[in-house]
Amino acid sequence: MVFVEARNLPSHVGIIMDGNGRWAQLRGQERVEGHREGSKAVRRIVRAARRLGLRALTLYAFSEQNWARPEDEVDTLMVLLRDFLLSERDEILDHGIRLNAVGNLGRLPGLVRGVLDPLRNDSASHHEMTLTLALSYGGREEIAAVARELATECANGRMRPEDVTAESLRGRMPSLAVGDPDLVIRTGGERRISNFLLYGLAYAELHFTDALWPDFAEADLYEAIESYQRRERRFGLVGKGAVPVSPEAPTPPAPPSEATRLRLVG
Ligand code: IPE
Ligand code: IPE
Ligand code: MG
Repeated sequence: MVFVEARNLPSHVGIIMDGNGRWAQLRGQERVEGHREGSKAVRRIVRAARRLGLRALTLYAFSEQNWARPEDEVDTLMVLLRDFLLSERDEILDHGIRLNAVGNLGRLPGLVRGVLDPLRNDSASHHEMTLTLALSYGGREEIAAVARELATECANGRMRPEDVTAESLRGRMPSLAVGDPDLVIRTGGERRISNFLLYGLAYAELHFTDALWPDFAEADLYEAIESYQRRERRFGLVGKGAVPVSPEAPTPPAPPSEATRLRLVG
């Protein structure tokens, strides 16, 4: 049984959807079959996230480095992306989801832009949940793009170098328009970040699972959120569990949580 507290949900969840290729290879199939199955998992998890009430979900669907994969794999991924956007269009619009995309979108083929751009546009005023697809995305590339922007403004006198701060950088990162990620999940067994949301990751909670992305089920999402809810986020401060220095001034115990518990059967 998995318990998810309704009041302590991570606001922004990021997912590194990894393991499609291995899922197919384990079955003696071509890697692209794993991507096909992976797109079904995307539908499932977007729906679960919406029902749970997450404010923002960012899915790492294609990295800037993934362009260097074999051409037929890249082509299939682009077709699957277009098909996903076409088939989910009504569901996205009917449920008040805002669809956004971050990354070097100019590199995406016309067949993707032709469905992505109208859907971004048509859902721009929605605010039930923001679904961001990281496409042709790289965390380092995003930081470099913002640095370039700030350097240009400083060079033409519209900004002073001393105004280049951690916060001003953060404010210009497209991937952080929905806030820093609270929880980042990586499927597929690898314990690495692979250039995802680097700047925003500063205080994100990380959850790694061996489940390959096509096998990632609603229950796995709930489990990741439950794990997040058991953690104490300290942001560099002193935690509630810290022993007080002076015995005369004990730290008051934390009030019992009155949060409603949603029972989500896994
Ligand atoms: C993730 O699965 C999908 C993309 C990166 C586009 P992979 O294709 O990386 O699958 P593995 O890691 O090789 O199994
Ligand atoms: C990360 O997975 C990128 C996406 C999930 C889109 P990769 O499979 O590309 O990352 P590495 O190669 O294992 O680091
Ligand atoms: Mg991979």
